[in-house]
Amino acid sequence: MNIPFSPPHIDDAIVNEVAAALRSGWITTGPRTKLFEQRIAEFCGIQRVVCVNSASAGLELVLRWFGIGPGDEVIVPAYTYTATAEVVLHCGARLVMVDVNDDLLMDMKKVRQAITPRTKAIIPVDIVGLPCDYDQLLDIVNDTQVKSQFQPATEVQRMLGRILVMPDAAHSLGAWYKGKRAGALADITVFSFHAVKNLTTAEGGAICLNLPEPFDMEAVYKEMCVSSLHGQSKDALAKTKAGGWRYDVTSVGYKCNMTDVAAAMGLVELARYDQLILPRRKQIFDAYNQAFGSDNRFRVPTYETLDKRSSYHVFTLRVNDASEKQRDEIIFKMAEKGVAANVHFIPLPLLTVYKSLGYKIDNYPNAYRQFACEISLPVYFDLTDEQVAEVIRVTKESVSEVCGL
Ligand SMILES: Cc1ncc(COP(=O)(O)O)c(C=O)c1O
Repeated sequence: MNIPFSPPHIDDAIVNEVAAALRSGWITTGPRTKLFEQRIAEFCGIQRVVCVNSASAGLELVLRWFGIGPGDEVIVPAYTYTATAEVVLHCGARLVMVDVNDDLLMDMKKVRQAITPRTKAIIPVDIVGLPCDYDQLLDIVNDTQVKSQFQPATEVQRMLGRILVMPDAAHSLGAWYKGKRAGALADITVFSFHAVKNLTTAEGGAICLNLPEPFDMEAVYKEMCVSSLHGQSKDALAKTKAGGWRYDVTSVGYKCNMTDVAAAMGLVELARYDQLILPRRKQIFDAYNQAFGSDNRFRVPTYETLDKRSSYHVFTLRVNDASEKQRDEIIFKMAEKGVAANVHFIPLPLLTVYKSLGYKIDNYPNAYRQFACEISLPVYFDLTDEQVAEVIRVTKESVSEVCGL
């Protein structure tokens, strides 16, 4: 049996809708993208969503909208994908990393300690689909002392009057925290629809606007649409309207709008996400949880608690007492037996670029401990029960062979 790690779920419904978009005469940002934005907003229970061509572009667009630049600090977890941190560096701000807990989520005590008068934003990551502790995080940024040391430098910073909380929700579409969906849990949340995500548009992302008063979501929406398209006052579709060719450029914008071809895929997947996609992913998580949770060689990930429900994105199994080298050998053996496993993620301070910037893994001991023994197992809609059983068998067998347990 050959079991890939995370192939996309592509069926006739998607192919037909993409073909309809291609045949419609309008393939870039247009009616399908606008409808997809509306559908995501309804799904998350918020007012406005801006679709873009990746989460990375979305995260950077928001940081730039907030006026983040040299001299500012942005807090991120050390245990994440590089995109979370790269956007901070692109803006010229200082990247402040904090360690994570055993559930791989940012340690809120460490976040509090990392705040300085220069902190302008925090990017919590709902790693592998589990939402962070947003009540705790919002309490921190709303704390009187923390607010009083915030030094606004732009109009939007003055309007917010505190540190911006921008969840990197690349993994957590459909997750819940205290009765609210990811997307509605903090100021501005960014989803990814990259090819390996639960819901994919091949490449894509969404910016969910949920800012407090006195922000006008409609105005922020319009501003972000314009800045995602060169700062141009009209998008390509508006320019095709009779006599509507004239446009202005009102800001130095970017080019990261979503296409209608991509939105076509997203519309089909979102319509069946709650009924079909998430329940199947949960079944797979439950099967892994049962098989590994009762075996003391393993630790299983947290994916449902009293307050939280994950989006069941990646099953991050930990092999107790396995060294990094043993973990790598286990994954190699699994591959030889036809099961593709993975690791989510290499902590940022282990990567060359962050090492060269002076970050040291010794300062993030739990990120390293979790990473060293972590194995991500295949989870995707088309994975059959028979394949799930094979993943379990092969994983246990490979651990026995490498660790002698
Ligand atoms: C945690 C995290 N943040 C951000 C991203 C970037 O998403 P995109 O590829 O849509 O830019 C990813 C992509 O894998 C990710 O895993």
